[in-house]
Order: sequence, then C-alpha cells, then structure tokens
Amino acid sequence: MQTSRPKWWQKAVFYQIYPRSFADGNGDGIGDFKGITEKLDYLAALGIDAIWLSPHFPSPNWDCGYDVSDYMDVAPEYGTIQDFKTFLSESHRRDIKVILDLVLNHTSDEHPWFLESKSSRDNLKADWYVWVDTPPNNWQSCFDGDAWTYVSDRDQYYYHYFMRQQPDLNWHNPEVKKAMWDATRFWLDLGVDGYRLDALGTIYEDPNLTPHEVPMNLAQLRRAGELAKTPEEHARIGKYWHEMFKYQWGGPGLHDLMKELRAILDEYEGDRMLVGEDDNIDYMGNGNDELHLVFNFPLMRTQRITPSHIRLNQKERLAQLGTLPFPGWPCNTLGNHDTSRVHTRYGDRKHDAALARLHAALVLTLKGTPFLYNGEEIGMTDLLITDPTKLRDTMATWYYNSLVRDLDVPPEEAALRAGEMSRDKNRTPMQWSNNPNGGFSPADVQTWLPVNPDYARGINVRDQDHNPASLLNYYKLLLKVRKKTPALVEGDYIPLNRNTKDYFAFLRKSKEQTALVILNFSEQTVELDFSRTKEIKGQNLRILFSSAERLLTSKPPRGLTVSPFEVLIAEVQPAK
Ligand code: GLC
Repeated sequence: MQTSRPKWWQKAVFYQIYPRSFADGNGDGIGDFKGITEKLDYLAALGIDAIWLSPHFPSPNWDCGYDVSDYMDVAPEYGTIQDFKTFLSESHRRDIKVILDLVLNHTSDEHPWFLESKSSRDNLKADWYVWVDTPPNNWQSCFDGDAWTYVSDRDQYYYHYFMRQQPDLNWHNPEVKKAMWDATRFWLDLGVDGYRLDALGTIYEDPNLTPHEVPMNLAQLRRAGELAKTPEEHARIGKYWHEMFKYQWGGPGLHDLMKELRAILDEYEGDRMLVGEDDNIDYMGNGNDELHLVFNFPLMRTQRITPSHIRLNQKERLAQLGTLPFPGWPCNTLGNHDTSRVHTRYGDRKHDAALARLHAALVLTLKGTPFLYNGEEIGMTDLLITDPTKLRDTMATWYYNSLVRDLDVPPEEAALRAGEMSRDKNRTPMQWSNNPNGGFSPADVQTWLPVNPDYARGINVRDQDHNPASLLNYYKLLLKVRKKTPALVEGDYIPLNRNTKDYFAFLRKSKEQTALVILNFSEQTVELDFSRTKEIKGQNLRILFSSAERLLTSKPPRGLTVSPFEVLIAEVQPAK
C-alpha cells in the first residue's frame, strides 16, 4: 500500500497523441497544434488527465518525427511555438498535464549538429556522433540493415541503431549532453510536465563492440520469423532477435545519465516526471534519482490477452517491483504508435466489441498508471497498406526492397509483408465523424496516410458520442468510475482466483476502500463463489460499473453470476 499521498502521475490516465494523425486544424491533411487544441474539450470530456505527445519537432520524417532536426522548435506543418504554447496553456486550463517525447539516442541526419559533424574530421562537432574508420563489427540497425554507414567527406563510418537517417549521438561527449540538456530545459521552462524517453536502452553500446553471432542479417532474420511455423522455430527466432542486438543495448553509463536528467527535472516545481520506453525497472533507480515510471511491456507482448497471461504478468511484474527498496509504481498499456492497434491485435474477429471493453477495463483497473493510445477509445483498427509506394514508415519500405531485391520474394507477397510490419497501419488519421476523410480533413484533401474506411461504419467520434452504448461512451463511463473510486487508483492488487481460464478477478484495496473487478473473457456465464474469499465473505457488493445489464446493488453474496464477456466493478462494503 502506498504510504504517502499518490503523485499526479500515479493517479493520472495518460493519453498518447500522435500529432500527425490526431486533428487537422488547417485542412492540409496533416494533424497540427490548432487541431489538437480544438480537441482538448473532447479529451477533457473523455476524462483523461495527461497527454503524452509524440514528437512535434521539425523533422524530415524518415521515422515519422523520431528523427529530430531541431529540438527547440515546432515542425512547421504542426504550427509555431506560439501554437504550442496555446496548446499547453489550454491543456493546463483544463487540468490536463502534458509530457513530450525526448529522443536522446539519435538525431536526424539533417540536424545541423550532424551536418557539421559529417563535414570533416576536425570540425567543432567532429566527435558528436559515433565515427569509425572501418566498421568494427557486424552490428545491424534494427530498421535498415547495416549499422555503419559511410560518409565520403570524412572517409569514415557512423553508427546508427535505427535508420541511417538517424545517426546515434556520442553521449560520452560532454558537449552533446550540454546541448541536449539545454533542449530539455527549453520545454520545461515553457511548463511541460515531463517527458517520455524514447529508446533509452540504445543510448550506450557495449564498449568492446563485440560482434553478434546470429548467422543472418536483419532482413533474413525478419523473413525467417515470417516463415517460422513451429513453436521451436519461433523460439529460435526470438532468441536470435535478442542475440543480434544485445551488444547494442544497455551499455554502461545509462544510470548516471538518467540521474543527470532526473536532477534537471527536479530543479523545477510541480513534480515533473519521466517515463521510459523500457520495461527494465532498474531505471527507476532508488525511487528518487532516475525515472518515475517504466512500462509494463510484458503485458502487451502476447498474441491474446487471456486471464492466465494477465495473472502471470501481474504476479511477475509486481513481484519484481516488490524487490525494490521503495514502492515502485507500475505503468500499464496495451498499445502505442509502434504496435498493431489493440482492437485488431487482440480481437478474435467474432467478439471484438466485447473484447475491446475488457481490454480497456483491464488497463484502467490494474494497479498502475494507464496509458491509452489515441483512437483506441473508438475502437480504431489497423489499416493494411499493401501499396508499397503509399508507405510512410520507411523501415517497411526498406524491408519491402530487401525482400524483393535480396531475398527473391515475389513483389505481391513482399508488399503484404511490408504492410503488415509497417507501423503506418496503426497511425492512420483519427476518425472524427462519418464525413469524407473521417472528418479528419476536408473531403478534397489527401491525408498524409489514408483514412481507414471503417469510419463510415460507426468507427468515429461523432457517431459514438450520440450512441450511449458505444465504446466511446463506455470509456467515458469507466474513466469516471475510476476517478470516483480511490481503490482503483491507489489500492493494492490482490488476485482472487489463481487458475481459472475464463475469467480474471481481483481486488484493489486501499486504506479506505476495497473494489472487486471481474473480467469475464469467455462466452460462458460464470458463477463465482465467494464463500471462501475472506475479503468478500459476508459483505455487501455495491455494483459501481458493469458492461452488462445489472441491478445496482446485490445482497451479501455467497456467489455472483457474471455474464459472458462482462466487466464488473463493485465496491466491497460491510453488510448492514
Ligand atoms: C522508439 C519510438 C519509435 C521510433 C524509435 C526510434 O521506439 O517509439 O517510433 O521509431 O524509437 O526513435
């Protein structure tokens, strides 16, 4: 149980905005700050408390904004610094916090720092990136093959973990730190509430530059993964992925770097926070000197969300956090701009609507800070783009070319594979209405990625707003219940059943309240027996929320009947 009052970032529900696709305020087919600001009332009504904004900085968009060419400005297509300030103050006016995306590992190859660095071997920034005379090993970039790229002006190679347009910074150079910390302060000075740290694990590499021993390159490994059939083959490929990159991750120095960064945040008033794109709880330091949160990614690393998976995940995750000498706070999510959308990925094509409600309830009732991804609240689905010329995610374009050129895969199949692995499918424009272009942009405008045509089949905000039974209204209600139920925010997690396949039931218990959550993942009606559950036995259950029709209160239960796919939240109260 938390001993001190929870901080805002422990109570908040975060909502990730992918700025290119959220709201197009000026009708040019690309999202922008004017659009986001206009939608703040929508977000306030939805009931979220904080926004994580994916990169909004100038960028040539080789990696959709994660290749930053100026850390202290706004991409012109998104607006101006003034537009950003308006967005920030309007968010704060509605009690919505804002954290930004901090990309430390690399810059764009069009960043002035890199342009200077690559121009000669003796310029002032010559040592700001990782330069070598000849590739010292067989390291791969996780996006586009060889990790070492040649530059003729220096007759040298630079290192990049991601695209070759994303050169890794040399974080051993104090000038790099200084420049990046200046940029970090720039937005903190403007009042942002913290940062999500992009790809922190890749900042430092193995100092010995040890080669990997996987008998394949990146494209071959990806392809082998697609062709793997048996569980053994899949396991072998999984092991290869780990082995291929293990020397390029988590090198010495990261904890000290995180401490420096944390010290900067702590100079500011108002509990500015850091959440790392990593699941390693070691980056939470001693509870006060590194990151506030890291994601529970293992929860989403599965094909299906099942009660046994969740149970095991919670057991392991909370046990890990429990080994920390401070109360480490969990952070749960099921989707983001890098993964297939929750609705598609964890649906079964038969009960998708019901499953979406269970998944939302899961993230919003488990112990920890929840992160939602824009569009999941209306059940947006993946859009498979099978024309390779329409892909914007360049790692997918690279893979398409490798398949056709190097691996002799027929173009039709390559296009399908590229579409499947591309992250474009889960980054399409937000669907605001059933107007053409899903109401994202005017009808005659070509949006930066195609709008998913399912906007015309009810997957849009306006239609769902008007329908009390919609997923959107379900999210709103659930968010309200969460806010009004302290146990769901602060309470400890107590699993109730240890091995049922069909449903997942647990308590959240805070000092002042106990809440019972039941998620029935099956088509069956389930009878629950509480006669041996000490926290519930002989008590009343006051129903706070149900996705099925229910009476509002129930007698002191010996048992409880839960409908197929029902989400049930109740308060456990002393029997009168
Ligand atoms: C992170 C981002 C991803 C990006 C990569 C490189 O994983 O979430 O979108 O491509 O870092 O910056």
